[in-house]
Amino acid sequence: MHKDDPTTLAAAEAAGNALKPSPAMDAFWMPFTANRQFKKAPRMLAKASGMHYWTPEGRQILDGAAGLWCVNAGHARPKIVEAIAAQAAEMDFAPPFNMGHPKAFELAERLVEITPKGLNKVFFTNSGSEAVETALKMAIGYHRARGEGTRTRLVGRERGYHGVNFGGVSVGGIVGNRKTFGPLLTGTDHLRHTHDLGKNAYSRGLPEHGAELADDLERMVALHDASTIAAVIVEPVAGSTGVLLPPKGYLQRLRAICDKHGILLIFDEVITGFGRLGSPFAAGHFGVTPDLMTVAKGISNGSVPMGAVFATQAIHDAFMTGPEHVIEFPHGYTYSSHPLACAAALGTLDTYAEEGLLTRAATMAPVFEDALHSLKGAPNVIDVRNIGLVGGIELTPIAGQPGKRGFDVLLACWERGILIRTTGDTIALSPPLIVEKTHIDQLVGTIGEVLKVTA
Ligand SMILES: Cc1ncc(COP(=O)(O)O)c(C=O)c1O
Repeated sequence: MHKDDPTTLAAAEAAGNALKPSPAMDAFWMPFTANRQFKKAPRMLAKASGMHYWTPEGRQILDGAAGLWCVNAGHARPKIVEAIAAQAAEMDFAPPFNMGHPKAFELAERLVEITPKGLNKVFFTNSGSEAVETALKMAIGYHRARGEGTRTRLVGRERGYHGVNFGGVSVGGIVGNRKTFGPLLTGTDHLRHTHDLGKNAYSRGLPEHGAELADDLERMVALHDASTIAAVIVEPVAGSTGVLLPPKGYLQRLRAICDKHGILLIFDEVITGFGRLGSPFAAGHFGVTPDLMTVAKGISNGSVPMGAVFATQAIHDAFMTGPEHVIEFPHGYTYSSHPLACAAALGTLDTYAEEGLLTRAATMAPVFEDALHSLKGAPNVIDVRNIGLVGGIELTPIAGQPGKRGFDVLLACWERGILIRTTGDTIALSPPLIVEKTHIDQLVGTIGEVLKVTA
């Protein structure tokens, strides 16, 4: 326990947390984790409520990352907890192939009430990675169904993250995630990323410079010909490579080039979906509607794994040909529209609606922005950027050890009772959308202190 932390043990014990011994740690091979480091100095979470986690020892941790960009309504919200418990007792599982259950249909109808106009078909998955694979397949299948079977090329962007399956890694642009796994999918290409500290450092909201980088797509058309390109996939705001915001006008320009050449535009809204920017979806926020949109995380408030793809009527209808007894889109998962996930998502949508959470980030954004930008001038800070309730604080890397400074900051923050996310040497903040000013002050105050002691 951090010596200055006055809360913790008593509060956690009052909340029903007994001291628990650490379990054996050998068997579990942890995902996206430095396993050997972790097992020497574990960071364990045992309980969560509202804006906080507690460790097994009862230490309170303020959640500055909404878990992993997913717990948008805060932890253990009663409507969601009750919905999951009731569904588990009523019906645990129903096969999603050739069978249906009422909550899946109800959820799809509820979701298309809040998606940008035109995205009115929903295909359920269990994660963001699966949503991405599904959207890429839909894009290729759509062109084929319309007699344009040569359109198979998929274009992503440098520094893009689209999950960990082969399609997503192939269109993704993170070298560390790509180099280990062989040649990946052939027939992909990548736009340049839009991150330019020389021109855009300390931007508040969208950066001024870089809309013309969307013209990379024109160059790809000139090189490969539009008749070979199925789709372009981008995150409207990239989270996993360090909070990269789209330059003003960039997404509009990308949309226009896609329209000109019959290329589908896919927005990966796994992070931006469900209120993160201050609007229900980034597409609505920026006034640019994609043809396909992937979501996960906030769809069920992180409580039960779930993802989804939203598609236009035209894409859906292109598949609806041939004999009626034949499966039109040969794709799906055993747990697509799992009853527990559907119940959790319905409870989540109720919570978002009752508390106005899908737009609350817009109200809190100015407070968050001012607090974040107060870190300008703190040791090793080279940029601060923000939109809605997403903040990025970029640090100078330690020479020869990229990522080490970021990781040291994460560890020191954990010691002081806040959970942050770092990607490389960038701190990414994305607190639950129920965050109050006092939480923001604690997050930013602690980071400021840590930057001094780790300098
Ligand atoms: C933009 C984006 N796409 C896809 C994914 C993958 O989602 P999952 O980890 O649920 O497979 C993520 C995860 O952070 C993401 O940020």
